[in-house]
Amino acid sequence: NQWTREARYRPLSDLAPEVYQLMKEEVRTSPWRFSFHIQPPTGLLNDPNGFVYHNGTYHLFYQWFPLGPVHGLKYWYHMTSKDLVHWFDEGAALIPNDDPDSHGAYSGSGFIKNDQVHIMYTGNKRDAEWNRHTSQIVGHLRSDGRIEKHLPPAIPTVPDGYTEHFRDPKVFQHQDVWYCIIGAQRNDLTGCTVVYRSEDAEHWTWIGELDTRYDQFGYMWECPDYFELDGKGILLFSPQGIEPQGDRYQNIFQSGYLIGDPLNLPDVTFQHDDFVELDFGFDFYAPQTTLAADGRRILVGWMGLPDIAYPSDRFNWAHGLTLPRELTLENQQLRQKPVQELTALRKETLYAQELTLEHHIMPAQAETFELELSHLQLSSDQLELKVRASDQEETILRYEAETKRFTIDRSKSGAEVPAVEFGTSRSITLAEPLHTLRLFVDRSSIEVFLNDGEAVASSRIFPKSTSQGIVLTGDATAHLAIYTL
Ligand code: FRU
Repeated sequence: NQWTREARYRPLSDLAPEVYQLMKEEVRTSPWRFSFHIQPPTGLLNDPNGFVYHNGTYHLFYQWFPLGPVHGLKYWYHMTSKDLVHWFDEGAALIPNDDPDSHGAYSGSGFIKNDQVHIMYTGNKRDAEWNRHTSQIVGHLRSDGRIEKHLPPAIPTVPDGYTEHFRDPKVFQHQDVWYCIIGAQRNDLTGCTVVYRSEDAEHWTWIGELDTRYDQFGYMWECPDYFELDGKGILLFSPQGIEPQGDRYQNIFQSGYLIGDPLNLPDVTFQHDDFVELDFGFDFYAPQTTLAADGRRILVGWMGLPDIAYPSDRFNWAHGLTLPRELTLENQQLRQKPVQELTALRKETLYAQELTLEHHIMPAQAETFELELSHLQLSSDQLELKVRASDQEETILRYEAETKRFTIDRSKSGAEVPAVEFGTSRSITLAEPLHTLRLFVDRSSIEVFLNDGEAVASSRIFPKSTSQGIVLTGDATAHLAIYTL
């Protein structure tokens, strides 16, 4: 395929239904398809969008380019779930076929108003000279599964002082007033967020730029999210243009948060601590949160990054979403744990016992599984866990007791390793000695949660389906459980 501009902006409706069916079938039977993660039926998935809970159902949309593994004309694809584990495919819900979104229905968020799922998103339009024109559009989900747009756009243009990189509105309510926070680039090409307010979530007035201590922090902030947790204000965003610094900021783009006092909304100031990355893995970007039925704050991210090629591209699909995580606050730090509902994925128990580890064991073989190591007491300098291992390949997780450094090494995770120019290992120094590790392995991903959510890493790997070895090396006592998923 030649991904010319024309090919990237071709609508799905141009394709004969049989041709699209064939494409779907080819993708469905191609290598590395996930078994329990959200993935596109064809083409490319990126940011999670419109994540919201309503009347017993979670709605989660994602950015979707149907025709290939590239960024082109973006739709919103719609998934629903009762339990955050089993997802029902609702198909394309938001179609970029109006003038203000003629070149893409870009990212945005969901909210409930008048007992209906509403969304606010960015309309991306290119003019004849290919200049970008950005607007923010409100819509609602009809009972036929399609989003009805409330046109003309609620915020039709970009305010003075900012470039057309102005997108990804996140709507939230505070004391009966609606607010939205938007990712922006100032005219001097630095990133920030701006805030609007509204009485009805349809007519929006500018309040101002959110004043943080990060005045010069990259050239664009994408996908902001704001919420409060236990009396703290938390701003998530995905800054672009941050240089690596030790173990930090190793990926092409980052995503993380600022935590502080709740936003002072009248004058949009924010007193906060230092920026913290959300995930130390290779593939994580543009996360979005919502509130669950029982008040939990749940986060889902894109398990991928812009501008990186992946081995599945040649099979005409790319990327998935992370598992949903529950966010909690402990000692003023954000913790991220897999949502408790995920235990429903467990099929067969391959291993479950107290373990006295001397040197190494191979407790099981599996392709898609959950592994939980708890009550870990290490007596050697290091603990090593290899997964998806065979004679030729392995993905290595390693912990060094003295430095409390935890490393993921995917240099040998398969014949094709993505983004090698950004390195093949990622590390983090833990605050607590490693005592718990919970790992979810799918056909082409690993997500590891350390110390009950102190740190998380999400990474794509592309091993052979026959590489199923699990090898644990070190001297330790622990409880080990392994379940097929
Ligand atoms: C982040 C992003 C958003 C934009 C969307 C377009 O990955 O660039 O800023 O709305 O993707 O697909």
